[in-house]
This record gives sequence, structure tokens and C-alpha cells, in this order.
Amino acid sequence: MQEKEIYTTADGSPTFYMQALDEYYHSRHGAVQESNYVFIEKGLAHWRSLHPTAPSCSIFEMGMGTGLNVLLALKASLSQKISTKMTTIEAFPLSADLVLKEDFSAFLSPEELHFFKTIHESEWEEMISIQEDFQLKKVNTKLEDFSFDSSYDVIFYDAFGARTQPELWEDEVFYRLAEQLRPGGVFVTYSAKGSMRRALEKMGLAVERLAGPPGKREMIRAIRTSSR
Ligand SMILES: C[S@@+](CC[C@H](N)C(=O)[O-])C[C@H]1O[C@@H](n2cnc3c(N)ncnc32)[C@H](O)[C@@H]1O
Repeated sequence: MQEKEIYTTADGSPTFYMQALDEYYHSRHGAVQESNYVFIEKGLAHWRSLHPTAPSCSIFEMGMGTGLNVLLALKASLSQKISTKMTTIEAFPLSADLVLKEDFSAFLSPEELHFFKTIHESEWEEMISIQEDFQLKKVNTKLEDFSFDSSYDVIFYDAFGARTQPELWEDEVFYRLAEQLRPGGVFVTYSAKGSMRRALEKMGLAVERLAGPPGKREMIRAIRTSSR
């Protein structure tokens, strides 16, 4: 894809910036802060609060990017004792060499930094055990070409914004993703786009507008409250 440069966000954590598209991989207000708030706190931890005794959780992520959400999901899974299987898809993988130039030393423990490296150096297209209770499958594909063969408890929707990739914010995308959500499952994204909200509601999900992370007024979470 485009040339990328490391950008230090407001909380001190790094992300990538693509000048050609004027697009960032995370919020400029704080990469770790945004990922933790949107995907972990409002997504995975919320699912956990709805299913406190579930023995396992399956996560699907659209847009692996730098792997930060994967690492934070691993961290949360270990601390909350959730046995997790995560599938993350990425159309334009960043090389491990490039991603590992990001300096997360102020945010991650040595053990977490080691996991981050393992995530990036692990094989694609195979379910790999990153840690005993955290299995990861990285798939190099476009969402449009991905065939779902499973349903999920949690979906992280982390595409670039509609200004850059309008095709990833069409109603059909959300109809398709809503189909993959298990009863009691949680879909979460940093965006509060009205058309997405209506598409998810049309699919029978209970949609909530939540306060967004710093720098963002609102975000969306949607839950499949019953089986169809
Ligand atoms: C906002 S970034 C994701 C950030 C990421 N979750 C992280 O923690 O670093 C969006 C990602 O979606 C990827 N992408 C763009 N178009 C895609 C498509 N059609 N299918 C799958 N991934 C796509 C981009 O290459 C980029 O890595």
C-alpha cells in the first residue's frame, strides 16, 4: 500500500501515518488509549460482563494493521482468564520489521513486548498458539473476499474511515458481519456512522451509542440479544 511513517499519538503511544491518504492507523488522541477503550473495555470486557462463566471466546477483527488490538486482546484474555481464539484479517500486511520499529516500551511489559513480536513473526493462514489460552489466526485477505466459516462472540470493526475507504462502510458490509455474530455477541467499532447504525438495527441487533474515546464524541456497540 502507501508509504508509512511512525507517528507519536497524544498518549505517547506510536501508530503509523500515511501521508498519501492523510490517514492514521489509530486516533491521534492516543493509540493505546483508543484501542483499549473501544475494543477492549467496550468490546471484549463488555462481552465478559454479559457471559461471566463462558469458558471461551472467539473474536473476529477486521483490519489487523499494527496488531495492537490483537496484543491488547491477548493481554485482556490472560488477565480475565478467557480462553480466546482470535481471527484477524488484513488486506495489506505491514512487515514485522516495520511494525517492530514502533516503541511500545512505556506501555507494555517485557513479556507483552515478547508476545507482540511473536504475533508479528507467526505464520499467516494458520491457527497458532501465541500462549496456552490465546490462539491466533492471521488471514491475508480483503474482507470482501473472506469466506466466514465460523460465527463469533466479539467482532472488532477497525477499518480506515469512510473518507478513505467508503466501500467498507456500505450497508452490505454490516449485514454480512451481523450474520456472523453469535447470540449474546458484541460488535464494536470506533465509528458512530448513522448508516451503519441503521444497517445493524435492521439486522436485529440492539445498537448503543456510547461516549467515544478522547477526541471522539460517540462510538457504536451492537449486541445480538437473541438467536434468530
Ligand atoms: C485502522 S487500520 C487497523 C488498525 C489495527 N486494528 C491495529 O490495531 O493496528 C485499518 C486496516 O485495515 C486494512 N484494510 C484496508 N482495506 C481492507 C480490506 N478491504 N480488507 C481487510 N483489511 C483492509 C488496512 O491495511 C489497515 O491495516
